[in-house]
Amino acid sequence: MYECITMYNDIERSLTRMLLEYFGQDSAPSFNCDRDSDMQVLFYQPELHNRELLQEPHDDSLYMTFAKATAPGLEILLSDGLFHKVELDRNEVLVMPGEILALMAGYRIKPLIHQVVRYSDQKSRFSLGYFTLPNIERGANISPWVSNNSNNHINIMDRVIHNQNQYLVADKSQPQEIKNLTISES
Ligand SMILES: [Fe+2]
Repeated sequence: MYECITMYNDIERSLTRMLLEYFGQDSAPSFNCDRDSDMQVLFYQPELHNRELLQEPHDDSLYMTFAKATAPGLEILLSDGLFHKVELDRNEVLVMPGEILALMAGYRIKPLIHQVVRYSDQKSRFSLGYFTLPNIERGANISPWVSNNSNNHINIMDRVIHNQNQYLVADKSQPQEIKNLTISES
């Protein structure tokens, strides 16, 4: 798991540097995500339930979420207003932008709304998620790459701290039926 976290962190760093370049920033990333991000293994038993959705539509309030599952179920809301199945090759992983990434980009990148649909014939389904957040530095601020009306009144570090408390620690986003194993470096 530690190796996996390290690899995902490398991918996050590469994506962050690409985004910096895309938004015309010539400086190094102003934050790292190697300390306060979480890796979670979500275990579902779809055949035991009746409801249509194992997770209701939501967007993650984080920086980037990396998702890879052993079976179908995850769907993402695209610009046509419809949910689409996520289909990944063996060497692919889904990267979903969250609220913190949207704030960094002045909402030129929007949080990706997603849901998990229940397939009644699935006995088990594992999903590996790497939930990234900038490292917490209380009292610090993070300057966005794009500043506009969507973010110029927001202290992004304060929002990181707030969202970490809401999402990762309490983890209220997960239905109780999902057995949730959290493995993190700390
Ligand atoms: Fe999610």
